Amino acid sequence: MPDTLTITDNRTGQAYEVPVTDGTIRAMDLRQIKTDEGDFGLMSYDPAYKNTASCRSAITFIDGDKGILRYRGYPIEQLAEQSTYLEVAYLLINGELPTRDELDGWKHETTTHTYVHEFFKTCMEGYRYDAHPMGRLVAFLGTLSTFYTESKDVRNPQSRQENIVRIIAKMPTIAAWAYRHSLGRPYVYPDNDLSYCGNFLSMLFKVAEPKYQSNPVLERALDVLFILHADHEQNCSASAARSVGSSEADPYCSLAAACAALYGPLHGGANEQVLRMLGQIGSKDAVPAFIKRVKNRESKLMGFGHRVYKNYDPRAKVIKTLADQVFEVTGPNPQLEIALELERIALEDEYFVSRKLYPNVDFYSGLIYQAMGFPTEMFPVLFAIPRASGWLAQWSEMLADGEQKIARPRQIYTGAGSRDYVPVYDRG
Ligand code: CMC
Repeated sequence: MPDTLTITDNRTGQAYEVPVTDGTIRAMDLRQIKTDEGDFGLMSYDPAYKNTASCRSAITFIDGDKGILRYRGYPIEQLAEQSTYLEVAYLLINGELPTRDELDGWKHETTTHTYVHEFFKTCMEGYRYDAHPMGRLVAFLGTLSTFYTESKDVRNPQSRQENIVRIIAKMPTIAAWAYRHSLGRPYVYPDNDLSYCGNFLSMLFKVAEPKYQSNPVLERALDVLFILHADHEQNCSASAARSVGSSEADPYCSLAAACAALYGPLHGGANEQVLRMLGQIGSKDAVPAFIKRVKNRESKLMGFGHRVYKNYDPRAKVIKTLADQVFEVTGPNPQLEIALELERIALEDEYFVSRKLYPNVDFYSGLIYQAMGFPTEMFPVLFAIPRASGWLAQWSEMLADGEQKIARPRQIYTGAGSRDYVPVYDRG
């Protein structure tokens, strides 16, 4: 059987044969289908890209029906159990797990570029104490672009690599400083002797002690959460990074765009909204009434549902186990029983079952962050820090892909036809 698709255009009676490769047809192959010579040719219409592959990618594999997630072929469960966030970041960006020497070199690089220019303190002061830290993160990524102007040389692999390292190293610093500024606390400089997450926790929570010692269980839990959030193929923010990067904008601006996309409550902002929702529900007894409101479309069950997963999100499974370990150290989170009751009822209810709505990565992560002492507004920031490695991997892959050009979708124009301008004094 040939790997082709035969299309009959009933408008003209003409038949066309187009190749099928990797389960897709090329949208440009539709262009030959015309009603007459003057016709532009057929296009596909796919609002929200529900059925359009925008690239070929070797980074992350998801099977949404089976609940499978792999980075560069490695199952997420194995990476969460045995790897570290920095090793995973290396894997995503370089395609292979590092050797011992490569890992040491990578750790050295990402811990020696953690400092930011002192000017960042002035930038922080420009914001009100209650400015949302995600808004600041978006802005500070853009600001970094003004420091590293040579990063505009995006076709230069050495420049790309240097700026990838800088971004991964500096994300925790700017995030932690935004947090400290909100509290009116002095900024804590990076401690390059500590691990990636240990240093981040130090910059967030250090007070007067000479060296900050984080709880090893909590430090590891944060590292595992970072692994789970590192990439998720062509989601809204990765697509934003690719789309903006396709104009050859520098990586800081491309990541600022990605970060802005992640901020939205339907994407990375959902973890924050889950906690707000649990607070509003208030108690386990109030769960049935809330579910009723969701089914009446008066509210959404935040942290549920996914464009790709039509099964339990494998990341949510790992997070649920992680939550038990964290709560052993911090004491139980009182909101957990509301979340468990929501999940129990939703997984049995026809509304959620028929729509294949399951808990996603954001459903339980906020409960852990809250137990660890993070304020709710910091939750999307905790998503953005590790996702930077995924965005950078996607951005680099896009630049190296000879088939990619500046992203520029088509439209179906629905506005007025040509009409003559009428001066204001002649309008009725
Ligand atoms: N609560 C109630 N109903 C829902 C939900 C939900 N969380 N999610 C989807 N539905 C319903 C939706 O109303 C629709 O019903 P109907 O067919 O009767 O109109 C059906 O399920 C299909 O939903 P959709 O909106 O067409 O699905 P989508 O693929 O466009 O949206 C989603 C995916 C993640 C935006 C959506 O499920 C959602 O809004 N979830 C809540 C926000 C959330 O948790 N986001 C985090 C996603 S995972 C991490 C990340 O990507 O950042």
